[in-house]
Amino acid sequence: MNMNPVSSLPLPPGNLGLPFIGKNKIFRKNYQYSMKEIHQKYGSLYKTRILGKKFIYFQGYEAVKFVLTNENKYFAPCYIFKNSQRIFGQTDITWLAGQEHRDRQKLLTKTLKNKVLDNYIHTIHNLSNSYFLKWIKSDFVDLYFEINNYTLDLVLKLLLGIDSASESEIDNYLKEMRSGLNTIPLAFPWTKLGRGLKSKDKLFNQFEQIIVKRQKESDFGSDVLGILLTVQEEIDSKLTVREIAEQMVNLLSLGRKELSSALSSFLILTSEHLDVLKSLQIEQEKLDSSEPLSLAKLKKMVYLEQVIKEVLRLAPPVSGGLREVIQDCSFQGFRIPKGWNVTYQVSSVLEDPEIYKEPEIFNPERFNAANAEDKKKPLCYIPFGGGARECIGKEFAYLVIKIFISTLLDNCSWKFKENQDLTINKFPVARPANKIEVCFTNG
Ligand code: HEM
Repeated sequence: MNMNPVSSLPLPPGNLGLPFIGKNKIFRKNYQYSMKEIHQKYGSLYKTRILGKKFIYFQGYEAVKFVLTNENKYFAPCYIFKNSQRIFGQTDITWLAGQEHRDRQKLLTKTLKNKVLDNYIHTIHNLSNSYFLKWIKSDFVDLYFEINNYTLDLVLKLLLGIDSASESEIDNYLKEMRSGLNTIPLAFPWTKLGRGLKSKDKLFNQFEQIIVKRQKESDFGSDVLGILLTVQEEIDSKLTVREIAEQMVNLLSLGRKELSSALSSFLILTSEHLDVLKSLQIEQEKLDSSEPLSLAKLKKMVYLEQVIKEVLRLAPPVSGGLREVIQDCSFQGFRIPKGWNVTYQVSSVLEDPEIYKEPEIFNPERFNAANAEDKKKPLCYIPFGGGARECIGKEFAYLVIKIFISTLLDNCSWKFKENQDLTINKFPVARPANKIEVCFTNG
C-alpha cells in the first residue's frame, strides 16, 4: 500500500530533454518571452533540465508564494554551478539554513539597516558627485560601464573602506572567478577553474589583510566591516577572518550588479517618460536645498520612491531565486520530488494583471498611497524576494538609488544619444542589451 500520497501524484508538465543537455537553449532565447510563453502554455509549474539538473519553474502569485513561504520546510539554498563553493566559499549567508541562517541574517542586518544607514549617506553622495563631475567632462559616456564602475567603487568603499576599486585589479579577479564557475572541475594554471581559484586567493588575501588590520585598531570604523566587528563584540558571536572575508565577497557579488542594474534601468525607463522626469524634478525643487541629506530628507522623496518601485517592477534586477527540494511535497496536485531544484520567477508576479493594473505600462502612480498596488496581497511585490530569505540589502539599495538619482537631478541634465536600442535583457541580472551612450551636462 502506498503510504505516501505525494509519491502517487503526477510530475508537473514539461520536458526534461536529454540528460546533461536538457532545455538549456531556453536561456539563449529571449528569457522573459520564454518564461511568459511557458507560463501561458503550461500554467504555474513546468519541469525542465538545466545544466544536467532536474528543475521545476514556479510561476504566478500562488506558486511563487508557495516557495517563499516554505523555506526550510520543503526548500533550502542550493547552487547551480558545480564550482560555486570552491570559488566563493561555503560559509556566507546564501549557503546557511535554519538557525544558522537566522543568526547570520540578524548579524548582517545590523550593518545594512535602520540608523546605521546614516553612516553611509555622505560617502554615497560624494562618490555620486565625483562621478557626475567626470561624466560632465565627456561628450558621451557608456552608461552601464560607468555605472558598473561607480557601484564597484561604492560598494567596496562602504563594505571595507577600499578607495577607487574600479582602478584596481578587483574587477578582473571577480571576472576570473565567475568564469571558473561553470567549467570542468580541474584546477590547473591553464584551466578556467585554476585561474578562478588563483584570483580568489588574491582577492581573499587582500580582504583578509584589511580585516586583520582593522581588528587590531581601537576604533573599528563606521563602514560595514567596522559595524560588523563592533556588533560581533556586543553579541559575542565570532566569525573567523576567512568567514568575514567570504561574507564580504558575497555582499559584494549580491549587491553590486543589482545596483548597477537598478540605476541603469532607472535612467533608461525614465528617458522614455519625460512627464515622470518632470515630476521628479518638481519634487526635488520643493525640498529645502539648504537642508543636508539625511534619512529624514530622503523619506520626503515619496515620488522618487514610487518611480524606483516601478523600475524594479518592470526590470527586476534579479530574475528569480533558486532552491533545492529537501522534502517531497505537492502543489496544485503535482509532485515536487526531493532532490530536484526549483526556481521562482519574479516577473511572473510583478506582471500579474490581477495585482498590477495594465502591468505592461510604466506607471509610478500605481504605488501612491491611494493605489498601493504593492500592498494588495502579502508577497506580491517581490523584486527583493520575500519570506525567510528576503534581500537584506533592500533598505541599503533604496538608499543608494535615492541618493544617486536625487543628486543627479539636482546637478545635471542628461540626454540619450538618438536612435539607440534601449532594450533591457532580463536574465540573469537585468541590464542593457547593447551599449547605451548618454551625454551629461551641468545644471
Ligand atoms: C536593487 C538592488 C537589489 C535587488 C533587486 C536585490 C534582490 C535580491 C533578491 C531577489 C534576493 C533573494 C534571492 C533568493 O530568494 O534566493 C536577494 C538576496 C540577497 N541580497 Fe539582494 N538585492 C539587491 C541589492 C542588494 C545589496 C545592495 C546587498 C548587500 C550589500 C544585497 C544582499 C543580499 C543578500 C546577502 C541576499 C541573500 C539573503 C539570504 O539568503 O538570506 N542585495 N536580493
